[in-house]
Amino acid sequence: RITPVILSGGAGTRLWPLSRTGRPKQLLSLTHEQTMLQLTAGRTAQSSRFTAPIVVANAAHADQIEAQLAEVGLAAEPLILEPAGRNTAPAIALAALAAEPSSLLLVMPSDHVIGDVDAFLEAVERAVPIVEQGWLATFGIKAEAPDTGYGYIRRGEALAPGVHRVERFVEKPDRATAEAYVADGSYSWNGGIFLFEAGVFLDALRAHEPAILDAVGLAMDGAARDGGRLTPDAAAFGASPSDSIDYAVMEKADKVAVVPVEMSWSDVGSWDALHALAAKDGRENAHHGEVISIDSSGCLIRSDGPLVAAVGVSDLIVIATKDAVLILPRGASQDVRRAVEQLKRDG
Ligand code: GDD
Ligand code: MG
Repeated sequence: RITPVILSGGAGTRLWPLSRTGRPKQLLSLTHEQTMLQLTAGRTAQSSRFTAPIVVANAAHADQIEAQLAEVGLAAEPLILEPAGRNTAPAIALAALAAEPSSLLLVMPSDHVIGDVDAFLEAVERAVPIVEQGWLATFGIKAEAPDTGYGYIRRGEALAPGVHRVERFVEKPDRATAEAYVADGSYSWNGGIFLFEAGVFLDALRAHEPAILDAVGLAMDGAARDGGRLTPDAAAFGASPSDSIDYAVMEKADKVAVVPVEMSWSDVGSWDALHALAAKDGRENAHHGEVISIDSSGCLIRSDGPLVAAVGVSDLIVIATKDAVLILPRGASQDVRRAVEQLKRDG
């Protein structure tokens, strides 16, 4: 059986003011009634092919995560609680050390939307035989735009039907490089989803970033168990270098495979991305919560607090919560971080 590993440690600042430190993106309902975490856990929960998930999360969110999983009839086994975030390489190492070395781990971000779950699960099955031969598998999404927030994967020779050797993995290239990759046509985006044997990942980490493995190993030796919760030793984990799996392992390892998968996929990285995903009326408006809209078009308006009335406006993003309102032109939603930075500066 395959063990899902759900990463739930990100901050999601680009979806401010809805996403906050105490309740980041993965714990919000954005595209469906269910939260991003619940949707992620639900993707593998229906199939006997998967065990209960290992969830790796910020310790501050433990209660919310348990409650959200319980709401959909699930529980993490275990819920690994990070005293402080050290990015994804250490987070995945915690999960790999908590599992048997021969376990197949399906590592998934907790904050993505996948439209076609059957296509996704089919791609996972395609990867299994290669992964059992010691390969690290990534899932490649059609690169539609030169987005610099993604990893880019160049496909090499076929290893099996629908599985290729990765010729090159480049994490977050600059704009010009990303443009060249998209024009080239042999690159996919890295979907941020991985399948590998726990022991194979740990060996790769040992080969390329031994300091991370050493620190995380000590942290797990000193871990405290409390029911379904596992808390690594804070001092040892805090001593780990902070790095993502993409830079620490995927760019460097030899036996990396890519499984191209055709499915609607979004990392819901901005309010503009959410507008693109949302159900819209005949004038391209997407509304959520208490909203009145008259003679408006192309707007994303969401209220989780006061009534919002929009009259005669177009192409605006308006996000209202109990204590903050964001207003932006559509197309500029990456600039939310400027407001967040100023807020941090002003305390
Ligand atoms: N537990 C834990 N601890 N989870 C973390 C941590 C951490 O310290 N940091 C990030 N995460 C979680 C996030 O919540 C998210 O679900 C996932 O790990 C990926 O982290 P991101 O920070 O969102 O990565 P990214 O979007 O910049 O880049 C990754 O995803 C892209 C696709 O969306 C890379 O894998 C790229 O190559 C990829 O294209
Ligand atoms: Mg992301």
